[in-house]
Amino acid sequence: MDFNELIRTRRSVRKYKDIKIDDELLNEIVKAGLLAPTSKNLKSSEVIIVTDKGTIKKLAKARINSQAFTETAAAILVVIADKEKTSAYIEDASNTAMLMLLEAENLGLGACWIQLLGRTGINDLDSNQYVKDILNVPTNYDAVLMIDLGYKDMDPRAYTDSDINMERLHREEF
Ligand SMILES: Cc1cc2nc3c(=O)[nH]c(=O)nc-3n(C[C@H](O)[C@H](O)[C@H](O)COP(=O)(O)O)c2cc1C
Repeated sequence: MDFNELIRTRRSVRKYKDIKIDDELLNEIVKAGLLAPTSKNLKSSEVIIVTDKGTIKKLAKARINSQAFTETAAAILVVIADKEKTSAYIEDASNTAMLMLLEAENLGLGACWIQLLGRTGINDLDSNQYVKDILNVPTNYDAVLMIDLGYKDMDPRAYTDSDINMERLHREEF
């Protein structure tokens, strides 16, 4: 897909069809994320692919109520980052996530970023720690976010330039 079209058609998708995603597609998406730029090229970000229905159900409780659609995801890509490698680990994780969102759209899948750091889930548990416990993530990592993935069961309209608030653009100084 043309890049300008891709960045306009990528939208958060929060309803998915009950269709399995081929491993090949999942790998392509994660490969895009692992090619993202990282601070000092230290590559602090890593990705855990989750397709097991039972685990997805548990991950859906990482955030309270509002993220119930996570349960319908065919796969979840959990983006973790080694906070001992660099102070810019959140930025590294974010870049990895962004490229995976774009690749997912490019391959015809829907996706949604679910924030974990600084959020709470079931029983008021810290979302990051809750996910780390489920997935056996070592203590030096944070589970920064997860990406719900699936074949789209909703079709948000693509952005056009009229959606861009040009007041956010500054030239030379604020
Ligand atoms: C840092 C960040 C955190 C987000 N966290 C969530 C989240 O926890 N749950 C959710 O449904 N969407 C989340 N989103 C998706 C945003 O709500 C969404 O990108 C925004 O509303 C714009 O919509 P669009 O993605 O369709 O352009 C997050 C996005 C970002 C960049």
